[in-house]
Amino acid sequence: MKVFVSIAAFVAGVLSQSTFEPSDFNITEALLDNGVNISAIPELAPLVERSLISGCSLACRSLKFIFGDDLVETQTEPTYNAFVNSFWSAQQREITPQCIFKPEKALDVSTTVLISRLTQCPFAAKSGGHSAVPGGSNVDGGITISFEKMSKIALSADKKIASFQPGHTWFDIYTALEAENLAVVGGRVSSVGVGGLTLGGGISYFSSVYGLACDNVESYELVTASGPIITVSETEFPDLYWALRGGGNNFGIVTQFNVATIPRAPTMWGGMRSYLAPSFPALINAFYNLGVNAKIDGKAHQILSFAWAGLQVAQLELEYADPIPDAPILAEYNAVPGAVADQTAVRSLAQLTTALAGPASGPGLRQAFWTWTVKLDKEMATLAKDIFFEELPSIVNATNLIPAVSLQVLTEPLLEKTATKGGNTLGLDAKDGPLLLALVAIKWSNSADDDRINRFAARVKDRALAAATAQGKASPYLYMNYGSPYQNVVAGYGPENQARLKAISEKYDPTNVFERLQPGYFKLDGAPWGNGP
Ligand SMILES: Cc1cc2nc3c(=O)[nH]c(=O)nc-3n(C[C@H](O)[C@H](O)[C@H](O)COP(=O)(O)OP(=O)(O)OC[C@H]3O[C@@H](n4cnc5c(N)ncnc54)[C@H](O)[C@@H]3O)c2cc1C
Ligand SMILES: *[C@@H]1O[C@H](CO)[C@@H](O)[C@H](O)[C@H]1NC(C)=O
Ligand SMILES: *[C@@H]1O[C@H](CO)[C@@H](O)[C@H](O)[C@H]1NC(C)=O
Ligand SMILES: *[C@@H]1O[C@H](CO)[C@@H](O)[C@H](O)[C@H]1NC(C)=O
Repeated sequence: MKVFVSIAAFVAGVLSQSTFEPSDFNITEALLDNGVNISAIPELAPLVERSLISGCSLACRSLKFIFGDDLVETQTEPTYNAFVNSFWSAQQREITPQCIFKPEKALDVSTTVLISRLTQCPFAAKSGGHSAVPGGSNVDGGITISFEKMSKIALSADKKIASFQPGHTWFDIYTALEAENLAVVGGRVSSVGVGGLTLGGGISYFSSVYGLACDNVESYELVTASGPIITVSETEFPDLYWALRGGGNNFGIVTQFNVATIPRAPTMWGGMRSYLAPSFPALINAFYNLGVNAKIDGKAHQILSFAWAGLQVAQLELEYADPIPDAPILAEYNAVPGAVADQTAVRSLAQLTTALAGPASGPGLRQAFWTWTVKLDKEMATLAKDIFFEELPSIVNATNLIPAVSLQVLTEPLLEKTATKGGNTLGLDAKDGPLLLALVAIKWSNSADDDRINRFAARVKDRALAAATAQGKASPYLYMNYGSPYQNVVAGYGPENQARLKAISEKYDPTNVFERLQPGYFKLDGAPWGNGP
């Protein structure tokens, strides 16, 4: 009861502050502020008085009128197909937007949001396009915003802050910063985008030293629902600053991330090793011990995956932040016998991220991610693997199937960093750690298999969580970047954070532009596709 009283009091507190968007907000006037006079756009003139007509063709024609043909791709243009085929998953490639808009600057993004409001045409925003959620960054019949022309990277004079726009993948950022012996806390695969990964959290090779990507963002340039482009930091719009750290695409479109740099040696050690079933128990022991010992040496990093490739295999991604193959913390892993392949080596961060990209990431296949979180525990890790293999026969004949369950650790030092700079939205607490973060990731090619594959993943997750719950080892946390559209990610942040996020959204976006007009991805209220396949 007490917790609900405090949420109500908190929400009332937020709402009593002045709202960001005036109650008599006028879209036509906001567009004039952006230099766009819609009375002068023949298609839009009738909407000056009434902005309720649904019209994506109007919206796209207006964007062409305002910005010219080069920045707006429609379905008959070859560049349109090239863009749609740049999404990672087949499901996102199947979505056909009315047009693709390629803004060159934040003001163009602001104008798009206002045009979307005026015409009530839905939109989506694509950074690296690696969301596994169909419709996460592409929208059927609407405006898909591509950031490909927004690709500035800059370093502050003191080199402490790297600023980059969302048109980038991590490879670009790491390559640019490597020349200065710097890096940022970001993704582990070259082709993934900076936008989605950072807004959902962002697990890096260096997260046990520096925390999640979102916890290293010093400030954001944000396009808001009513058009203003604002800087959001710990001191400017601190409530939005909190909300953006884990809140996904629900609070605006980020047009620039200003991120703390980290000093880096030019190279590091790491890569993939593969093992067969006899090595599994030793791998799980080493996984557990490395996770627990992160507070002794946070420079090590791991992902332990179990997969089916005609036989049971384990794939271990093991890294160390310095160019040392035999750091003492890695001794147990390095002693596990039976590696059937070993691609570990000393190389640059950018090079390391390419090892897992390309065909290995399965671009163009159908994709499903499902996630859950439990206390770090050897029995829970073993159970995740065993349940995964037990349930596998129900999908194993699906065409081009590549199924895996990946285990990672949200280590104690990583969890401690979630409290920095006023904390983030994820609802994680170092005293509950370390946590075991599980991801079922499946690739396949035939849409007729979609339902049974999602039902398989749901069963694995449900059985693993039920076992954890029975032992008091379950966590409500769901990692947005690994969530299925059938999972209610924001509820997993806890009722207090969910209520706070909704109150902040109400304050800055009273008509729910970023939830209603941008329907894809994880919203503040409920799973995108409801609770279960
Ligand atoms: C091969 C692969 C490797 C991965 N590796 C990692 C990893 O190392 N660590 C990790 O934590 N996760 C990892 N992930 C998960 C990854 O974080 C998510 O898939 C993430 O959504 C990808 O971001 P993106 O920008 O490429 O995706 P997109 O599909 O472009 O975007 C995802 C969501 O974010 C929104 N968005 C993007 N940019 C903006 C913006 N500027 N403003 C507002 N909203 C925006 C989009 O609208 C969309 O809803 C990986 C995924 C894949 C497929
Ligand atoms: C918005 O402003 C324009 C231009 O000032 C005006 O013509 C229009 O009537 C206003 N619309 C609404 C809904 O108030
Ligand atoms: C907008 O365009 C209309 C039609 O061309 C014109 O009459 C009006 O003066 C313009 N308004 C502004 C503020 O430029
Ligand atoms: C694949 O396996 C499922 C479940 O075991 C079965 O129902 C289906 O008929 C099989 N399909 C093919 C093409 O063999």
